[in-house]
Amino acid sequence: MDEIVERILRHPLFRENMQKCFELEKERTFCHHDMVHALNVARICYILVLEERLPYRRELVYSAALLHDIGRTAQYTTGESHHAAGARLAGIILKDCGAADEDILLIQQIIKEHCSHISAAEAEKWKTNKPKNLLEAFDLADFWSRSCGDCAVRDECYWEVKSDALVR
Ligand SMILES: [Fe+2]
Repeated sequence: MDEIVERILRHPLFRENMQKCFELEKERTFCHHDMVHALNVARICYILVLEERLPYRRELVYSAALLHDIGRTAQYTTGESHHAAGARLAGIILKDCGAADEDILLIQQIIKEHCSHISAAEAEKWKTNKPKNLLEAFDLADFWSRSCGDCAVRDECYWEVKSDALVR
């Protein structure tokens, strides 16, 4: 496995936040932000990177995916936005893990700007457009990682567009 990814998985701050998030979401009826979700995003995003021949290393994609929702625990407990908290925590974890400064900045940008659900206008756009950079591939992967077709609470969900409308 890629070395930085392995270090992230062992990092105490990563493990502590993932565990807390798991506990806090036990009663949540909507989508969870657990390791299964993080790995689904990593795999789908890397498929898109390969399909579109985008110039991003697997290690970078997996590092971003593992960390993209790491701020959820802070959001649940302090009200801080998970984008801001996630970028801050990811910065600490990635630096400890020996990631390159340019990778840290790109991953922090992805965490700050990612949006797991998309608007009807964006859904229309993605019927024909292809992702051109990691942020676009990431947003699609985050969205496509959800299986709205199997969801018991899809009618109560605030997502304007359900993920099954776009799955290829
Ligand atoms: Fe996500």
